[in-house]
Order: sequence, then C-alpha cells, then structure tokens
Amino acid sequence: APAPLVDRFGRVHTDLRVSLTDRCNLRCTYCMPAEGLNWLPKAEVLTDDEIVRLVRVAVQRLGIRTIRLTGGEPLLRRGLPGLLARLTALGPELSLTTNGIGLARTAEELKAAGLHRVNVSLDTLRPERYREITRRDRIADVLAGLAAARRAGLAPVKINAVPVRGVNDDEVLDLVEFAAAHGYRMRFIESMPLDAQGAWDRAAMITADELLAVLGSRWELVPVGRHGNAPAEEWRIAGTDTVIGVIASVTRPFCGGCDRVRLTADGQLRNCLFATEESDLRALLRGGADDAGLERAWRATIARKGPGHEIGSADFRRPERPMSAIGG
Ligand code: GTP
Ligand code: 5AD
Ligand code: SF4
Repeated sequence: APAPLVDRFGRVHTDLRVSLTDRCNLRCTYCMPAEGLNWLPKAEVLTDDEIVRLVRVAVQRLGIRTIRLTGGEPLLRRGLPGLLARLTALGPELSLTTNGIGLARTAEELKAAGLHRVNVSLDTLRPERYREITRRDRIADVLAGLAAARRAGLAPVKINAVPVRGVNDDEVLDLVEFAAAHGYRMRFIESMPLDAQGAWDRAAMITADELLAVLGSRWELVPVGRHGNAPAEEWRIAGTDTVIGVIASVTRPFCGGCDRVRLTADGQLRNCLFATEESDLRALLRGGADDAGLERAWRATIARKGPGHEIGSADFRRPERPMSAIGG
C-alpha cells in the first residue's frame, strides 16, 4: 500500500477533487458575473490522458481513494463518459458535483461508466426565482436531471442549496419537503467569500444556527454527525428516514479533519480550497516528469498545507481564483 499523503498536522489525504473545466452554462449571481469569466484557453486545460496519468499517480502512489469531479460545470467536458470509464478502471470511488443541466441525457451513461453518485445544485423550486439566481431559464432541465440520476441509481442523489437572506431563505422548508418527497438528500451550504465579483456579504449568509432554528421550528431533529471527514454535518427528522446536511464552512469550520486535495482544470494542485498558492503539475507533466517526480511534487504541496482558513478574521485572504475556477 502507498505511504499516506500526510501533512504536518497529521491529516491524511484520501480524497481528490478534480475540476474538469472552469466553464459553466449558468451564471449564478453568488458565483460569477452575467458576462461570465475569462475562460481558460483549451491548450492550458489538462487533456484526458493527463488527468488519467495524475489520477493514477494519486491512487497508486499517494493513497487517494475517493475522487469528486467538479467544474465549473463538469458535464460540459467533452467525452466525459470515456474519461470516467478510464478513471473507474484505476479503482477510486467516483462522484460528481453538477448543476444538473444535461444530466437527464447522460445519467445512465455516466452510471454505466462507473460513476457512483451525484450532488446537484438547486437553490430554489420556483422557476422565476431560479432564473433570477442563475440568470438562465433552466429549472426544468435540473428537475429532469435529478429524476434521471435517481432512476439511474446514482444514489444517494444529494441536492446542494446556498440559502441567501432575502433571496431564497424562505424556501428552506420547501426544499427539504421536496427532497424528502422525491428521495433526494437535502443539504444547505453557508455561502463562502469565493465569488468572482468579491461581493460576498457575511450578513446575507444564512448561518447553520439560523438554519437549524428554522428546521427545528417545524421538525424534531436528531443529530447524525459527520461521515468521516465530510464537510456536511447531518440531522435526521425524528420518526423518519429524512436526513438533512449542513455545510457550515464559515461558522463551524471543519479544517481540522480535512482530507481533501484539489486539482484545477489547468493542472494546478491546491492543498486547500482557500490556498493562496498552487503547484504546477501541468508544467511537470508536459516537461516529462516521471511518476516519482510527480509524487514528490504532490507530497511537497501537502507538506506546505496550512491549518485552515480564517474567514472573518483580519488575516483572511481570498484565493486569487474564484470557486468556479478552483473547482469548489
Ligand atoms: P460528499 O462526498 O457528498 O460529502 O460531497 P461534498 O459535500 O464534499 O462535495 P460538494 O461538491 O457537493 O460540495 C458541497 C459544498 O461543500 C460546496 O460548497 C463546496 O465548496 C464545499 N466544500 C467541499 N470541500 C470543501 C472544503 O474542503 N472546505 C470548504 N470550506 N468547503 C468545502
Ligand atoms: N459559497 C458556498 N457554496 C458555493 N457554491 C458556489 N459558490 C459558492 C459559494 N460562494 C456551491 C454551489 C454548488 C456547490 C458545489 O458549491 O451552489 O452547489
Ligand atoms: Fe455555474 Fe456552479 Fe457557479 Fe452556478 S455556482 S455559475 S452552477 S459554477
């Protein structure tokens, strides 16, 4: 077995998030401006062969066991089922985070290529509000995508929502009921200062405490805890099998148990979502590095990992790239 990928705080890294593209077909207001961003030129984006090579090193030499494909919007990547099948053959458990557009068409094929499960972003159930938040009129595609994912057995299908005060915070209970009725697992995420515009407003963020108060006013909640080092803390509605997840990066940071490392679409390795430096694996790959060289670079990056972010403190520095370019 490979030596663990461990940092100076003793955190063992077994989870890799791979961004497949920085592009997106939505323009969520809390993420990017209406005109989009300066997308990466194609030549800078890792090819399928390059991604497979890095994942092979990660699995075989570094002990990575779970891989989440992210974006931008990962379903925009051409030839995704083929890439998935190649990654599946390397052995890790594969999951994908998507806005759901295009999922109705591809869920079966993705499942057949070895995908285990999907997390789908959906911040509102109201078509008009969906259009305002995402600047696109696509809620029907997302709802069809969710249903197709469930039918394909990409389970559990999780829904991610970022509640924002005065925007969609009045839909928290509706979202839980919708998810429960359709067999999805609902999760709420505290908004983080990772938008491209730098417009994050702490006061507009719905905190985990507020959310739990709203949920608690309707249901009796039984704490379930966290799965391993997962960002989500879970509660079950008493007397039911409905589980609700809360990802409270800001008010209940979970950096102490972090097991994640990230690869951007342009081949930069990040030891943290909030890291202010990246390590250029693409340059190593294209410069002819051997597997041992890639492994060394990877271990050196993790060795430099800091304790975690301090959102809200005077020392907090936003990463240079927005979340859509990092991969969430
Ligand atoms: P599961 O495997 O289903 O638990 O997935 P996940 O929750 O780790 O992944 P997903 O892509 O659905 O992310 C949900 C939210 O968690 C997004 O807003 C991510 O940015 C956030 N998230 C994921 N990893 C981290 C992390 O290391 N730190 C912080 N602060 N947030 C994270
Ligand atoms: N803070 C928290 N979550 C965010 N997401 C996008 N931008 C932010 C942000 N600034 C969410 C998306 C998606 C998940 C991958 O991350 O809504 O569900
Ligand atoms: Fe696209 Fe996700 Fe950003 Fe929305 S939050 S614009 S779906 S990358």
